[in-house]
Amino acid sequence: MSRPSVFGSRRFPDRVRVELERSFELDVHDSPWPPARDELLERVAGKDGLMLMLTDRVDDELLDAAGPQLRIVADYAVGIDNIDLDACRQRGVVVSNTPDVLTETTAELTIAILLALLRRVAEGDRLIRRGEDWIWAPNLMLGRGLPGLLLGLVGHGRIGRAVERLARAHGMEVVHHTRTTGVPLEELLASADVVSLHLPLTENSRHLIDAAALARMKPTAVLVNVSRGPIVDEAALVAALTEERIAGAALDVFEREPEVHPGLLGLENVVLVPHLGSATLETREAMGMLCVEALRAVLIDGRVPPNAVV
Ligand code: DGY
Repeated sequence: MSRPSVFGSRRFPDRVRVELERSFELDVHDSPWPPARDELLERVAGKDGLMLMLTDRVDDELLDAAGPQLRIVADYAVGIDNIDLDACRQRGVVVSNTPDVLTETTAELTIAILLALLRRVAEGDRLIRRGEDWIWAPNLMLGRGLPGLLLGLVGHGRIGRAVERLARAHGMEVVHHTRTTGVPLEELLASADVVSLHLPLTENSRHLIDAAALARMKPTAVLVNVSRGPIVDEAALVAALTEERIAGAALDVFEREPEVHPGLLGLENVVLVPHLGSATLETREAMGMLCVEALRAVLIDGRVPPNAVV
């Protein structure tokens, strides 16, 4: 009996590829770079399952190009804003994501870039690489420690709660805001020393942090974003940072990723990392294995996987 066909849109960790090859007729775009849209549309044609990345847009066009035999899109991410869920639902295509396995890794990166910002780690690294003169001095590059700072979490799902645990272990106070729990967003923005974003990108959260939200923050406060870039109006953020209306930003994600607003690049009080929230080998393998299990569930066992979102 022929095996189900699966297309994967990027090079996977070896273990993930081996597992995919054990169960499926596999076609992989074996590159660290995404396929061009035209190529993606060609390669998905006729496949039973797709293993796609957050950089691949899944919409009517792609689903039409794949064809009516398509049964599952396994997204190699927990955030699924790249997928038109209604379009998949209408066609009876299952969509799965990768919850839980990246929670601690992403929370860890949140604290890492927050510390890199507040303790000026990235700035100090740049200073040394520039070959500037320096010597230990009582006032050299003084930063701020975490104990006693108030962390305001916007979003309080798995990752937000994991960040809360780590932050409390570092002596921070924590408040949170969701649509149904915690403090009002205005209050959080006005009181927090650190505003950290941990919510999905939806039409409601797009530009949630706009010029008005930034204006509510304290001039000593900093913004951390490890969720999705478009939740922040990047041009408004650049203005707030440049005019010193807030004290800094630590960003793992960008509004027009992988493009970064040029206004951010010259600012010393900004830490920029290339969407590394879940980037450890263990976590990327675990994410991949969740995709493999979801593909097997749908295409081999004919059941809905536990991590199905549609
Ligand atoms: C996700 O999973 O949504 C992250 O942004 C990448 O791991």
